[in-house]
Amino acid sequence: MIRLPRLLRRKHSAAQGHQSHSVRDYQALVRAKLKSLPHNPTLALAQAIGAPTMADFVSIGDGHVAVLRHHGLTDGMTVYDLGCGCGRTAQALRRAGWHGGYTGADVVQELIDELARQCPGYDVLLNVAPRIVAPDASLDIVFHWSVFTHLYPGESYLYTLDAFRALKPGGKMIFSFFELEEAEHDRVWNANLDHLRTGHPAEHLDAFLHRDWICRFARDAGFASPRFTDGHDDSDHPPFWQSLAILEKPA
Ligand SMILES: C[S@@+](CC[C@H](N)C(=O)[O-])C[C@H]1O[C@@H](n2cnc3c(N)ncnc32)[C@H](O)[C@@H]1O
Repeated sequence: MIRLPRLLRRKHSAAQGHQSHSVRDYQALVRAKLKSLPHNPTLALAQAIGAPTMADFVSIGDGHVAVLRHHGLTDGMTVYDLGCGCGRTAQALRRAGWHGGYTGADVVQELIDELARQCPGYDVLLNVAPRIVAPDASLDIVFHWSVFTHLYPGESYLYTLDAFRALKPGGKMIFSFFELEEAEHDRVWNANLDHLRTGHPAEHLDAFLHRDWICRFARDAGFASPRFTDGHDDSDHPPFWQSLAILEKPA
């Protein structure tokens, strides 16, 4: 084995994202869940991404597809599911009979292995760097649910810049986020404060964004002004609970 000098080793490891808090936390969470439910790995993986039961996993996934359909998803499109987990959206797309090019990217091998097992023919990839692994102007939609909710703002910013690069003109980035202005997100905010007050470590970071920041990220990337949907809004699809942002690359 070739040994790199210590400084080079550190640089290599940072480029690969090995030191990223969310990679470390999600890998640990998935392994702990699999250990606690050895006879039901599918449920363990669903719980690791926040679905207490398989019924929740299915209904939440169906809600994802309703949002995507509302914002223009049609057959034949090419989509990129950032932080795809074990395929909650991918499996719902299959159930809905959608046909198109799907790529799911995540930072935990066990999660993407489950997605590949459940959805043969869908592409999956392991990627720990804040990049969209797709050629320039190749995607119709980049979507991600409950991913910026676990990242530092700078990481979300870098993903936004790169999503712009990878989207076709007219393509969209659609994602969910927590915001302090939404009363229903108080529960998560208060849990954060409890962890800080008690010193008990959280399983992972729960991050909040402000709409002004998302507007700034969008502007820097080149997107048109974002549109937003409140988490409790049920006018066009089932309420998402997290707030939604829709960023469009000018045609
Ligand atoms: C709450 S789960 C949501 C999974 C999926 N988006 C869904 O809603 O079904 C958060 C996902 O983000 C992934 N993740 C964590 N850190 C990430 C990062 N730096 N980049 C991309 N995905 C990440 C986790 O491994 C996990 O699958």
